[in-house]
Amino acid sequence: MSQAVDTGAYQRERDRSIEDPEGFWRDAAAAIDWDVEPPIVLDRSDAPYYRWFTGGRLNTCFNALDRHVLAGHGERLALVYDSPVTGTADTYSYSRLLDEVATFAGVLRGLGVEKGDRVLLYMPMVPEAVIAMLATARLGAVHSVVFGGFAPHELAIRIDDATPKVVVSASCGIEPGRVVEYKPMLDRALEAADHTVDATVILQRPQAVAEMGERDHDWRALAAAAEPAGCVSVEATDPLYVLYTSGTTGKPKGIVRDNGGHAVALAWSMRNVYDIGAGDVFWAASDVGWVVGHSYIVYAPLIAGATTVVYEGKPVGTPDASAFWRVIATYGVKALFTAPTAFRAIKKEDPDASLRAGHDLSSLQTLFLAGERLDPDTYHWASDILGIPVVDNWWQTETGWPIAANPRGLEPLPIKPGSPSVIMPGYDVRVLDERGLPVEPGQEGNISIRLPLPPGTLPTLWNDDKRYVDSYLAVFSGYYATGDGGYIDEDGYIFVMGRTDDVINVAGHRLSTGSMEAVVATHPMVAECAVIGVHDQLKGQIPRAFVVLKAGADIDPKQLEKEIVASVRDEIGPVAAFKSVVIVPGLPKTRSGKILRRTMRGIADGRPEAPPSTIDDISVLDVLRPLLQGD
Ligand code: COA
Ligand code: AMP
Repeated sequence: MSQAVDTGAYQRERDRSIEDPEGFWRDAAAAIDWDVEPPIVLDRSDAPYYRWFTGGRLNTCFNALDRHVLAGHGERLALVYDSPVTGTADTYSYSRLLDEVATFAGVLRGLGVEKGDRVLLYMPMVPEAVIAMLATARLGAVHSVVFGGFAPHELAIRIDDATPKVVVSASCGIEPGRVVEYKPMLDRALEAADHTVDATVILQRPQAVAEMGERDHDWRALAAAAEPAGCVSVEATDPLYVLYTSGTTGKPKGIVRDNGGHAVALAWSMRNVYDIGAGDVFWAASDVGWVVGHSYIVYAPLIAGATTVVYEGKPVGTPDASAFWRVIATYGVKALFTAPTAFRAIKKEDPDASLRAGHDLSSLQTLFLAGERLDPDTYHWASDILGIPVVDNWWQTETGWPIAANPRGLEPLPIKPGSPSVIMPGYDVRVLDERGLPVEPGQEGNISIRLPLPPGTLPTLWNDDKRYVDSYLAVFSGYYATGDGGYIDEDGYIFVMGRTDDVINVAGHRLSTGSMEAVVATHPMVAECAVIGVHDQLKGQIPRAFVVLKAGADIDPKQLEKEIVASVRDEIGPVAAFKSVVIVPGLPKTRSGKILRRTMRGIADGRPEAPPSTIDDISVLDVLRPLLQGD
């Protein structure tokens, strides 16, 4: 049954944002405390490099912390830390968090960090990760957080691109059943990198105390002696952070986030999409290494004056599938934001959600899910067991906040399972065919966004304007190419079906098959290979390598798999969840020798993918078909 999109508040806001972007975003900017009000809202002078709020000045950390304390809300809870893996918990009022952030900003300043310098963070989910991010922002410096599940090689690539002055890390992270020592990995990365950092700051944790070298400093020792630092005013267009994300090649893309547009967009989304205001408890069960963590663990809840939950654990196994219910009940969480895979994990362990019993979930009003496609099965299961709206929202590291969602704070709209609902204000989304022409409603194509993108989205790639244009803007003239395929129905609801490139989504983690192929291809017995994301019931997708052996190669397939799996884990990291290598007699190719990855991807995604007429030998594809479709 078709449900018309309400023409109420949502439609009015969206129309205005497209017809009068300056007016719309000037009004939204009132939620932010500016040192200098922005004289220009949308700066088109250097198109296609659009800028927002040019000439405005602010400090993002001031907006996240100081202003709430100055307004008399210092005793309000800013952050709760809950760590089932260490058996500890802690709470931070806005005053305490501000003190610790100002002190750590003093530590960084003492190590020579100034406005514009980069500080790289390689941290587990501890409050100090949030503190280090905010302290960097306080100095007008630029943080770059690298997810702890990445291996030294990936860390080294990011160190060389971001060229940080200081690296902040911890002695270890804790995964269920094992302690992950970060410091030796950091040392390996620093050794492998061409860039030399001035200093590292290490948070020692009792689970594994790190050996310290000459350039290493102990977090607590420096903090004990530091003078607190104040906020440095920056241009709205100055970078706040660089966050690396997987592209189609092995080289990650350094997504740049500015200060002004980011603060405005997050403030808008927190109120209008997530329906969160001052004093509410918001829990994004993700990791500060991902964009969800940047936007909705750190900046948006604090800018809104809400309480954020920093959770060091998993949905299952720490210790069981009741973990989420316990956290919601303990802290009175109003909205939970996580990836669908987390709910699939809970469902697998506890199909009837019987472990919910005894936990008071009455505070929970909405479940937000993002990071990968929300399959209707998971949607229905979560809706049934919780009895609250389950709200899919679609976005990317590049955009920093939802492109499509159901705006719960602005105007709750009917939910259609399988769709992240409607396009958010500021985004002018069109579905285009291969020639760049708009398709009819209901027809699938390349989801694209007409320029300019709204505030908070990437202005460019770090140190690489050309790659920004080549990767995103040159695909369809006048548009930003999202890399996702899908369609918009007659009611304006969008359906996002999957990537149209070599990016895959494993348990909500975005990964590049290209970088995995580069590792697989280095095995001495591999002649050629393709890595494709295949369907997985828990993680959505998992990578699987199809390899053709060199002539005369003689190796036990299990041994080959073991060796290749170990090298991907060592080079990229455990987060790749790379576990499967299949030896095949050949890969499907065009007559000119190009591997038909797109056709393989289509089959793996369950699309009726007709092989191109240029295919060399169709029988090769027939052999692969069941291997691509299998769980
Ligand atoms: N540091 C070191 N290693 C890490 C890590 C970190 N921060 N995070 C994950 N890893 C390791 C894990 O230990 C695991 O290693 P293993 O192969 O030795 O078991 C591997 O990376 C894969 O981790 P993960 O994707 O977390 O898989 P899992 O099987 O341990 O757990 C889920 C599966 C579904 C429970 C888990 O992925 C999850 O909670 N997902 C929630 C979604 C999410 O946070 N998405 C982020 C974007 S919103
Ligand atoms: P990331 O940059 O890590 O946030 O990953 C972004 C990609 O994840 C998108 O381009 C999509 O392919 C996928 N994605 C994120 N959220 C959703 C969603 N709600 N529905 C479908 N795909 C999603």
